[in-house]
Amino acid sequence: AVVVRQRMKSCGKWARAMALVKEFEEKCATPEAKLKQVADAMTVEMHAGLASEGGSKLKMLITFVDHLPTGDEDGVFYALDLGGTNFRVLQLQLGGRGGVVNQKFTEVSIPPALMRGTSDELFDYIAEKLANFAAEEEQMFHQPPGKQRELGFTFSFPVMQTSINSGTLIRWTKGFAIHDAVGQDVVAELTKALKRRGVEMRVAALVNDTIGTLAGGRYTNKDVYLGVILGTGTNAAYVERAQAIPKWHGSLPKSGEMVINMEWGNFRSSHLPITEYDHALDVGSVNPGEQIFEKLTSGMYLGEVLRRVLLRMAAEASFFGVEVPPKLKVPFVLSTPDMSAMHQDTSSDLREVDNKLKTVLEISNTSLKTRRVVVELCNIVATRGARLAAAGILGILKKMGRDTPQEGDGKTAIAVDGGLYEHYTEYRKCLENTLGQLLGDKTASSIVFEHSRDGSGIGAALLAASNSL
Ligand code: GLC
Repeated sequence: AVVVRQRMKSCGKWARAMALVKEFEEKCATPEAKLKQVADAMTVEMHAGLASEGGSKLKMLITFVDHLPTGDEDGVFYALDLGGTNFRVLQLQLGGRGGVVNQKFTEVSIPPALMRGTSDELFDYIAEKLANFAAEEEQMFHQPPGKQRELGFTFSFPVMQTSINSGTLIRWTKGFAIHDAVGQDVVAELTKALKRRGVEMRVAALVNDTIGTLAGGRYTNKDVYLGVILGTGTNAAYVERAQAIPKWHGSLPKSGEMVINMEWGNFRSSHLPITEYDHALDVGSVNPGEQIFEKLTSGMYLGEVLRRVLLRMAAEASFFGVEVPPKLKVPFVLSTPDMSAMHQDTSSDLREVDNKLKTVLEISNTSLKTRRVVVELCNIVATRGARLAAAGILGILKKMGRDTPQEGDGKTAIAVDGGLYEHYTEYRKCLENTLGQLLGDKTASSIVFEHSRDGSGIGAALLAASNSL
């Protein structure tokens, strides 16, 4: 009788767990009709953000980039790419039509304490690494000392630009919280730090990573009109007609075009499928109420959403046994790369899922049935994110009038970068397939995705070149 009762009890628990999965899946659903509503809402917000400053959750920032690389850029340029847990320093030797002749880079991780410290601490650290890199590289290139060096600064946070090489930080995203930097001109902050170290370098261009990716993509493919980042955070930039920007009061650029940094991470709409887990994640974040689209789609958050679902299942349905595994209670312990590894486990006994549960969450002895559910949850979270990102891209294509077949054989290429896109294959496939479905065969064939690896740094160096003295 005891055995039977225990079995009934565990059946009940399993049923409860499955009910939680089902409920979560339903709340995350993104049928085509919903995605189209999201895309339309994106287009509407784009118009509103372009109409007036503060007119929308979408900042639609004017970048002062009114011409993209042509391929004629020539000389040696530097780039500094700051925007996630690492920053990169890059030296690019451009040989005009000969393209990139030489490229060197180094990647440095940012100590977490610096992400919450002071502006001087952060910029001094960066200046030091940049100085070391430049000194080493120049010895190798036999560059004449004292020559003015030009730098493209990729700074991947929302910035209100005042010119191509100045702009103030509106606020931090992606877990950064350096309060005294908000409202400051980040180029001035970097320049001061470079001076303190005695480094001679002029910041020629200040760009967001989406702009760098767009510029880097355009350098090799003239059909590139959009730059999208799917990494720690997410964002998009595109080429807009200057005439279609009512809030722009400056003179019309010769090209008639202006690149817009959308800051789409901050998009929100009643059409977004938001669950109680997302709500709790947002409330507990360093920026509650902000970056809602980013919290549903980007690498910083996917693993964390999954952790929250698993925690509830552990607590309410003893999904991992009677005890709630303590590790599962630790915010952000489950990273998106770990989630991706579990999701893409192709072994018949789901060995990689077992391995991740053990090493990351200290949960052992799971049944195959349990591991299958974990994979299903990964799929739900990743699919929702990827499909929403596709809807966002559709919204931009609509705004640009490129959501229907173009005259002739005109193509629209989308330059994409970021670790999520690069490494999470299931996510990438889902994103690309979904956009294809939303557009229909005829248009889909004219839309091309291009992985622009390190495009943001290269693009910044290219923009430094075209804006150099
Ligand atoms: C965040 C930043 C944005 C950046 C994106 C991708 O959304 O606010 O500026 O482009 O992350 O790195």
